[in-house]
Amino acid sequence: MGKLLYEGKAKQVLEGDNENEYIIHYKDDATAGNGVKHDQFEGKGVLNNTISCIIFDMLEEAGIKTHMIEKLNDRDIRVRKVEIFPLEVIIRNITTGSFCKRLGAPEGIVLDEPIFEMSYKNDEYGDPLINDDHAVALKLATREELAYIKTTTLKINELLKAFFLKFNLKLVDFKVEFGKTADGEILLADEISPDSCRLWDVDTNQKYDKDVFRQDIGDLIETYKEVLARMQGK
Ligand code: TYD
Repeated sequence: MGKLLYEGKAKQVLEGDNENEYIIHYKDDATAGNGVKHDQFEGKGVLNNTISCIIFDMLEEAGIKTHMIEKLNDRDIRVRKVEIFPLEVIIRNITTGSFCKRLGAPEGIVLDEPIFEMSYKNDEYGDPLINDDHAVALKLATREELAYIKTTTLKINELLKAFFLKFNLKLVDFKVEFGKTADGEILLADEISPDSCRLWDVDTNQKYDKDVFRQDIGDLIETYKEVLARMQGK
């Protein structure tokens, strides 16, 4: 294994075989509320890596450019090296979570149009919500890059909504991250998994995502296993 370059809450980034690549290693940790709640769940890293790889493959096939090169094993993937934009890019299709807390909106309202949000990834300031003008002023990205990120994220939303609906799951909201290669190419990076999406059963509205951990309302591993089983047609 290459040298550890960065250790996040749920993943490690390791040096790759050449200067244009990284290895990402999925851990079993789960955190919520900016790391205030923290636990370990045996097998979570394997489940998230497996789920995220299936989703990234689907997106690549649909023409979305991602950092994925190949899955190496249950916990490790080879990816193109990017510098991550310090932005949490969020889409909401149904109201819940911080949207309701912040704005006093009722939970579970199906939105007429998806809501696009960005937060500045900055733990010290609590990942504040920002707009394009803020991002440009702070030199986090250019206007052109932000426009590409928004268009691409809306496309990802349509693809993911249709994908999960096949498994009787509604895509409530999700977070993605983008990065830039040394050549300036913008790629979808990080992961897409039940850690970063909210998924509700179409018939029962049962939660199939990290809210079971955030709200202590279910078994995280059994929940993620069920998502994967549905995706594999089991
Ligand atoms: P949001 O409702 O903004 O945050 P919270 O989880 O604090 O209520 O989250 C919207 C979606 O984005 C949800 O599916 C979780 C995901 N998300 C992350 O994966 N990481 C993050 O740091 C944030 C802010 C959201």
